[in-house]
Amino acid sequence: MTGRNSRLLLSAVVAASIVAAGGFGALASDAEDAVKYRQGVFQGLKWNIGPLAAMAKGEMAFDAAEVELRSQRIANLSTTIVEGFPEGSDMIADSDALPEIWEDKDVFMEKATALGEAATDLSSAAPTLDAGGLGPMVGAIGQACKACHDDFRAE
Ligand code: HEC
Repeated sequence: MTGRNSRLLLSAVVAASIVAAGGFGALASDAEDAVKYRQGVFQGLKWNIGPLAAMAKGEMAFDAAEVELRSQRIANLSTTIVEGFPEGSDMIADSDALPEIWEDKDVFMEKATALGEAATDLSSAAPTLDAGGLGPMVGAIGQACKACHDDFRAE
């Protein structure tokens, strides 16, 4: 086969697989992408609450600017949670999402909003906060995580 013909064959194979992906494959791969996206969002939340928890426990020096940055990120990420749970993205093997998310979508959204509020409370307070005031506010953020996990995440 000449180089030109093999390139033509290759583009035909690529075109066929794109068509296939647009057919029955599309929903499954969109749903898998949604699971990866939301798990990434949650990893981002975990990453950013880490220094806050460390400061609250006295394992890391209190730093108001760092508190403000981390809590703002958590507030921002909280607004990106719900879009990671589109219809049809349940029943994915490596997801811990419970079916109640799609049955009680309003409650699920409220839990995401509550996280945003707790994080915004902390970012607003950060400039005038001291180490002693940090613990309860980080605790409130942690409670907002837990409140959603208790109802909507498999153990
Ligand atoms: C509105 C509900 C909700 C809130 C709020 C929430 N989570 Fe989650 N979290 C979930 C659900 C549902 C899953 C399971 C997602 C999946 O596997 O599809 C999850 C999964 C996770 C995971 C595992 C991700 C992975 O890689 O599989 C971590 C870590 C996590 N959450 C941390 C947090 C932290 C930290 C907070 C608070 C700062 C938080 N979550 C707030 C619902 C929530």
